[in-house]
Amino acid sequence: MSKTKDKIIVALDVETADEAREIIAEIGGEVGAFKIGLQLFTAAGASFVREVVGKNIKLFLDVKFHDIPNTVAKASVEVARLGVWMFNIHAVGGGEMMRRTVENVREVCARENLEQPKIIGVTVLTSADQETLREVGISREIDSQVLNLAKLTAKCGLDGVVASPLEVDAIRRNIEKKDFLIVTPGIRPSFATNDDQKRVMTPKEAVSQGADYLVIGRPVTGQKDKLSAVRKILEEIETE
Ligand code: C5P
Repeated sequence: MSKTKDKIIVALDVETADEAREIIAEIGGEVGAFKIGLQLFTAAGASFVREVVGKNIKLFLDVKFHDIPNTVAKASVEVARLGVWMFNIHAVGGGEMMRRTVENVREVCARENLEQPKIIGVTVLTSADQETLREVGISREIDSQVLNLAKLTAKCGLDGVVASPLEVDAIRRNIEKKDFLIVTPGIRPSFATNDDQKRVMTPKEAVSQGADYLVIGRPVTGQKDKLSAVRKILEEIETE
């Protein structure tokens, strides 16, 4: 099993590359990877992604692509060319979109001798609840929607899913692929508040449910002393 710190992905949800550089310098040695999402990617762009990757830092590019299959597949190839360790697309974009992405990324990585990034499908956002689904015309129970999308993701050959920690156990029980990765945001250590996340768990609970990676943002980046927040989280996970 990987070390506890390797499971922690810290979300760099900040406005500028400089703020992100400071966070990386402060806690880079204590966590497994960092995540750049839509805010920082829009502000600092691909050049900042290249800079971080160039420092040998594992980077999860949280772009959550959802568009027509051709557009998502081609954008994903460009993400692979940036050298990131992991990125994601929305499973609700459908089977063809996911299959074409996997095929195109595989093909280009083989041809250009690039390391193939892990491709992860987003199921239902952890900020969503039953009412959010109802609003957009999905009457299915949230758990069943997540499971349905996780199965489709696995069938299309992706490496894993992003799901709330509350769904990890059901996904593990229903997906045969042993190395199917489960990445869980919505993590709230005992010392943190929930913010806008609705389906949350503590880091320890999420790991014991079988999550491979925990995405943690505000409980770390919103703290004055980020290093001690990370250490408290690691301690929480490791304490019997
Ligand atoms: O600050 P917090 O810990 O809530 O940050 C969670 C991070 O995970 C955010 O960057 C958010 O965009 C991301 N995320 C999420 N739910 C998903 C996928 C990604 O919260 N389903």
